[in-house]
Amino acid sequence: MSEEKKFRWVGTRPIRPDGIDKVTGRANYGADFALPDMLWGKVLRSPHAHARIQSIDLKRAKALAGVHAVMTAEDLPDLFAEAAKSNGGHDSSNDLAHNVMARGRVLYHGHAIAAVAATSSAIASQALELIDVEYEPLPHVLDIASAIASDATLIHEDRVTQGVEGIEGFEGAEPSNIANRVQLGHGDPAEGFDLADEVIEREFTTRPIHQGYIEPHACLAQTTPDGRVTLWSSSQGHFMVRDYTAKLLDIDLSLVKVIPAEIGGGFGGKTTVYLEPLAVVLSRKSGRSVKMVMSREEVFRASGPTLGTRIKLKLGATREGVFTGGEATLHYEGGAFGGSSVMAGCMTIFAPYAFPHVRSTGYDVMVNKPKGAAYRAPGAPMAAFALETVIDEMAERLEIDPVDLRLRNAAKEGTLASFGPRYRRVGCVETLEALRDHPHYSAPLGPHQGRGIAVGFWFNAGLQSSAGVNLNPDGTVTVLSGNPDIGGSRASLALMTAEEFGIEYERVEVVIADTQSIGFTDVTGGSRVTFATGMAVIEAAADVRRQLCERAAAVWEVDAERVVWEDGEARLKGESDRAPLTLAELAQNAGRTGGPISGRAALTARGVGMAFGAHICDVEVDPETGRVEVIRYTAVQDAGRAIHPSYVEGQMQGGAVQGIGWALNEEYVFDSDGKLENPGFLDYRIPVASDVPMIDTVIVEVPNPKHPYGVRGVGEVPIVAPIPAVVNAVYAATGVRFRDLPLSPPKVLVGLDGKSAA
Ligand code: MOS
Repeated sequence: MSEEKKFRWVGTRPIRPDGIDKVTGRANYGADFALPDMLWGKVLRSPHAHARIQSIDLKRAKALAGVHAVMTAEDLPDLFAEAAKSNGGHDSSNDLAHNVMARGRVLYHGHAIAAVAATSSAIASQALELIDVEYEPLPHVLDIASAIASDATLIHEDRVTQGVEGIEGFEGAEPSNIANRVQLGHGDPAEGFDLADEVIEREFTTRPIHQGYIEPHACLAQTTPDGRVTLWSSSQGHFMVRDYTAKLLDIDLSLVKVIPAEIGGGFGGKTTVYLEPLAVVLSRKSGRSVKMVMSREEVFRASGPTLGTRIKLKLGATREGVFTGGEATLHYEGGAFGGSSVMAGCMTIFAPYAFPHVRSTGYDVMVNKPKGAAYRAPGAPMAAFALETVIDEMAERLEIDPVDLRLRNAAKEGTLASFGPRYRRVGCVETLEALRDHPHYSAPLGPHQGRGIAVGFWFNAGLQSSAGVNLNPDGTVTVLSGNPDIGGSRASLALMTAEEFGIEYERVEVVIADTQSIGFTDVTGGSRVTFATGMAVIEAAADVRRQLCERAAAVWEVDAERVVWEDGEARLKGESDRAPLTLAELAQNAGRTGGPISGRAALTARGVGMAFGAHICDVEVDPETGRVEVIRYTAVQDAGRAIHPSYVEGQMQGGAVQGIGWALNEEYVFDSDGKLENPGFLDYRIPVASDVPMIDTVIVEVPNPKHPYGVRGVGEVPIVAPIPAVVNAVYAATGVRFRDLPLSPPKVLVGLDGKSAA
């Protein structure tokens, strides 16, 4: 706490810079852009989960008045098939290209097959109905068990499993629906279980779910006869949109400019492209600009959800509660092209604890469902569901308090993580202690109520960031960032800038610059922006401070080494007869002392600070209906350093609510033909405000030693602990251990009936 006194701005809660635009509706989201010559683009989607495309007849659609362009995969260059062929069927660009528009076969219900651009949205919809497609339906696989069965229909007949060289049981080059196998760990789990007094082995399943962002995918494309492309797009990274669009269409990067829109939620789901390449092709074919906006139904059917999983987990512990071994086998559906988050599942599943013997093996399974996309701490919540509910069972069996059992095994500095590295300073122990000491943990409970706790881990990302810092002649500062502001990065970057210069927060403006106005920057994802782009901003500000000191030295005609920057002004060391020069004074006179002052930095951020969260959940279960109500919830999290604590708390609350929805309600329901039956927020039920209590938050600060302010990254880890916290609470309330999500009322009732029958 005393350390915080050093900061004037970091750790404060000023109003958010984008707040007024957003609450007044003035902010421009993906669908808010328009051009005078604009057409509306729409996509025809597959009515089959798996089928061969025999023919596509565009004649009637083209003839419709108001239709200016129609396209299919024939209008996209097929650039990556050879690369895939020489790599066992695997090429991520090939997958992306074929996901954007089906070629030869459709691989899931909702797969794009053609697109049109017309003068109105209604005419475009009408034109879609005039496209005549002949399909030859093929057998489909919809779940892990049928996908990995020996007689399974192959989704990709040429695709062999990667990562199996020399592994017994895999016959080398035989194609299968397992795209990839990964394995991590150390020691020998069998030996670990020999050392245990208690061993528990359980199996868990989860269903496909969607991130549930409010804003549908949307973009506007403008093209010129000389080949230039401008895109306005809502995404987690406009450089990502530029790079993918250019790659799929074989266009030079310098000809593609992407202007970021505000983003109405992404949570990992806007880290790829769906519409942008199609809008560009339609624009080129029509000579007009083209706007495309997905309907909510399209978002559900055809954007990237996080798909189903099956995890088998075995945990061994001594009577004293020391973990001796852990072993897990994880099967994650990746959708029609593979590429699930199973690697991250394997990395995170045992990560919060020290294990002498631990191993996780993951399989990336292809099924005839949409190509999966990232979702907030991708792969980790399902893994935590398995481990943290088994730990709860172990605590009960050993008669040890569930927090104590976790504390006895908690990862700390020097612990060999199950995924390879040794931890630097991490806050797992401090987070658990704060949970234990919170009044919530010992508060009384009523009838049909129960309390659960769980720990979540996420490793966070660094990646590449650029930043620019420009001094304006009036002494204000403009910061350029290449990251769409999703979780409050305008505020956090402005706070760190104000801190670096010692000036007022209100004098800093953060601008999200387009792809031609700032250096390359990776997506807003991986909880990385305040950490990594923050580092770039801090470096760019240091560059500017150095120049300010040089300018002051020039004014004073002294060596620059004699000038220091303190409290927003340049001061001459050891002399009192020189009045300090403020940032505003130096900026105003910059033209006379050497010209405008600006700084920039570009880096690959190292020293990621890993994140732990520990949650307490109280539920009340209605024995008549099986309805589970979350009645109290507390999220504790190590932020490293909370730059803007309100935003950190907002991330913790948002993650907790998404996790509660995943635990209790959310699931894709497919019919036997592989058609999604609940593609809307009416039937796909995410929590609304009335479904959840106020989420209480406790920020723990164990600074990341590798970041100037100690930042770790806070956006993702809060979704990891909720599922097991809820499920453990339901056990405490009912005596039934549920291992299949979601805990919807009918399923809970079946569980309760099973208990009374037994
Ligand atoms: Mo995220 S799931 O790192 O966009």
